[in-house]
Amino acid sequence: MKTALTGIKPTGILHIGNYFGAIKPALRLAERYDARYFIADYHALNSVKNPADLRRAITGITAGWLAAGIDPERVIFYRQSGVPETFELATILAAFTPKGLMNRAHAYKAAVRQNTEKGEDGDAGINMGLFTYPVLMASDILLFDADVVPVGRDQTQHVEMAQDIAGAFNHNYGEELLKIPEAAVEEDVAVVPGLDGRKMSKSYGNTIPLFSTESALRKLIMRTVTNSQCVDEPKDPDGSLIFALYKLFADPGEQTALASRYRAGGMGWGEAKEELFRVANRELSPLRDRYNELVSDPGKLERILSRGTEKARAIASRTIKRLRKATGIE
Ligand code: TRP
Repeated sequence: MKTALTGIKPTGILHIGNYFGAIKPALRLAERYDARYFIADYHALNSVKNPADLRRAITGITAGWLAAGIDPERVIFYRQSGVPETFELATILAAFTPKGLMNRAHAYKAAVRQNTEKGEDGDAGINMGLFTYPVLMASDILLFDADVVPVGRDQTQHVEMAQDIAGAFNHNYGEELLKIPEAAVEEDVAVVPGLDGRKMSKSYGNTIPLFSTESALRKLIMRTVTNSQCVDEPKDPDGSLIFALYKLFADPGEQTALASRYRAGGMGWGEAKEELFRVANRELSPLRDRYNELVSDPGKLERILSRGTEKARAIASRTIKRLRKATGIE
């Protein structure tokens, strides 16, 4: 079986955009691949400097992925910081990474652009962790001989950089010591609209949290702005944010049935929102229960992660041994 590997950066809290855009596709992929999914906690340290915030995010994101359905018996689910070989490999790879390659990284360039637009020094507030982020990420990937790396479109450049770095390394030693990974960007992943109609994103503040309480979920949905069409008027489901969200949770039969009711008129926005709440809560309430159970039992969470981390280390130490030999360090 081929290997799929992806990292989950523990920042902020999970929302339904993450659920449909990243978690569900990763769970589907795990059925066909030998999956290795990990909490990229050292990646988060670049931006999260408050220890309580970082700890909370790690617990929340770990519990969230498990609650959403990661099966730690089938997926090697681990924590990056628990695999110190990652950081040794990052040091090795840095020796093969042209600085110019890092200069071209989108995230770094965007940070520099923001600075210069504000009239500040280009490097203001940019730490080396951000600058060398692609090296650490390449290390995550190459350490496990990953065949495919499921990522969002914003991360494909990072995977290409991992290919470049691995290529330079292999070329130097005249041997395929590192497997060249491929990015797997799911084409038909649903774009999840946020509560203001733009793409759901933490930075727009338009998210529906994945694990909000039932009453908070209802309130968020009920407060969503709609147009001023009255109850009797026929409504266009395809132009409706409420319906776009409904489609994510409803089965095809339910979608067709509700679309007809929109078009027929006689259904007001309040009722459309009730329907959305019903299907959303139907899917999310078992997740929410599992999530609450996991966050209230940090010991259990820790045991699951450390079992996965042990399995990951067994693989990682073999890779490092191979590379230490090849480089002449050993
Ligand atoms: N950079 C990814 C993100 O921000 C997270 C990540 C870290 C990752 N290491 C990885 C993804 C390795 C895939 C493979 O979402």
